[in-house]
Amino acid sequence: MFDFEFQNPTRIVFGKNSVAKLDALVPADARVLVLFGGSSAERTGTLAEVRAALGKRERREFGGIEPNPTYETLMRAVELVRAEKLNFLLAVGGGSVIDGTKFVAAAAGFEGDPWRILETFGGAVTSALPFGTVLTLPATGSEMNHNAVVTRASTHTKAFFANPLVFPKFSVLDPTKTYTLPSNQLANGVVDAFVHVVEQYLTYPVEGLVQDRFAEGLLRTLIEVGPKAVLEPRVDYDTRANLMWSATMALNGVIAAGVPQDWATHLVGHELTALYGIDHARTLAIILPAMLGLRRDAKRAKLLQFAARVWDITDGGEDERIDQAIEKTRTFFESLGVKTHLSDYNIGADAIDGLVAKLEEQGLTKLGERQDVTPTIARRVYEASL
Ligand code: NZQ
Ligand code: ZN
Repeated sequence: MFDFEFQNPTRIVFGKNSVAKLDALVPADARVLVLFGGSSAERTGTLAEVRAALGKRERREFGGIEPNPTYETLMRAVELVRAEKLNFLLAVGGGSVIDGTKFVAAAAGFEGDPWRILETFGGAVTSALPFGTVLTLPATGSEMNHNAVVTRASTHTKAFFANPLVFPKFSVLDPTKTYTLPSNQLANGVVDAFVHVVEQYLTYPVEGLVQDRFAEGLLRTLIEVGPKAVLEPRVDYDTRANLMWSATMALNGVIAAGVPQDWATHLVGHELTALYGIDHARTLAIILPAMLGLRRDAKRAKLLQFAARVWDITDGGEDERIDQAIEKTRTFFESLGVKTHLSDYNIGADAIDGLVAKLEEQGLTKLGERQDVTPTIARRVYEASL
């Protein structure tokens, strides 16, 4: 196992009616900016609950944060924070609103061009406003991690940053908030969480027995509850609670500690969102099967472990078992209504030069746990995803 340090300071407040607990979580004298996305937070009544819980605190609101939040929109929130001297942020939404809030928190006191926050992958961040979140979409894990993804609309650049200063102070996780999600967003959440675990698990063995069993437990839980959440018309609290907690645990640092990490599927997939607007999770469902197939030699030991322990595949030769595990994964995504080929989105081979160029432009030329996913390999992955 690799050496590691681990600290996750985010307080999780989990359960029904937990939005009301904001009153105890947000400092009484805070000047709060509530950030949200399009119409869902208002329509579902969550904003009303938030306003009631915040009571008499000074409060401003900033709506309109898009899925795949843009730098341009977020900079308007930064201006509002500065102009109104707001000192506490509250994100109400999914990964996009939470990521956007992390950027606003880091940019509010940033000296110089805030795009530097993304250019330095967060290294340039020296301070951040405190913030909390009310999660409405289990998927990204953003509610309990220090990562954020921001898109510069003007250049179609999807960039990420990470810094310990942007861990949320707290996150309110009420599984009943997922009841209003359409099935395509629930499916996105299952796939995103699944691939987060895979990025931290399906690399090469380092005798991280705890991490491996935790990861396999999360994958098996997602395989169990995902179809129930997405496909069954009856809403079941415990199914939603398990989905929500799985998605949080999938990317809060626990399973990453002491093991190699990949993330090539995410970064190769990001360009599909940046250039073609495909939902984040859907890009992962397209890229992952191709990525695993092409990198099977470097990942052989873990792929065989994944086949045996996650999909119960124990018969046949090594490559046969690996093929079956990748096929089961693809079928799992497809069973949730998430397509797994570029052609499903009318994207053909002519798109690949542009996608590879975008990776190169961002310096993303040595990806993966062994930095061996070069632009040449990325090109082959895109080709295999057609
Ligand atoms: O905008 P509104 O009207 O609020 O609607 C949203 C949005 O259209 C809707 N929604 C959210 N909660 C709802 C709801 N609709 C009904 N009922 C509810 N309770 O869902 C739509 C999608 O929301 P979004 O926040 O964009 O989805 P998600 O949580 O999947 O976040 C995706 C973003 O997170 C980034 C992605 O790149 C993408 O930008 N990621 C962030 C990560 C992180 N911070 O660690 C890791 C991930 O890998 C990912 O890259
Ligand atoms: Zn993701």
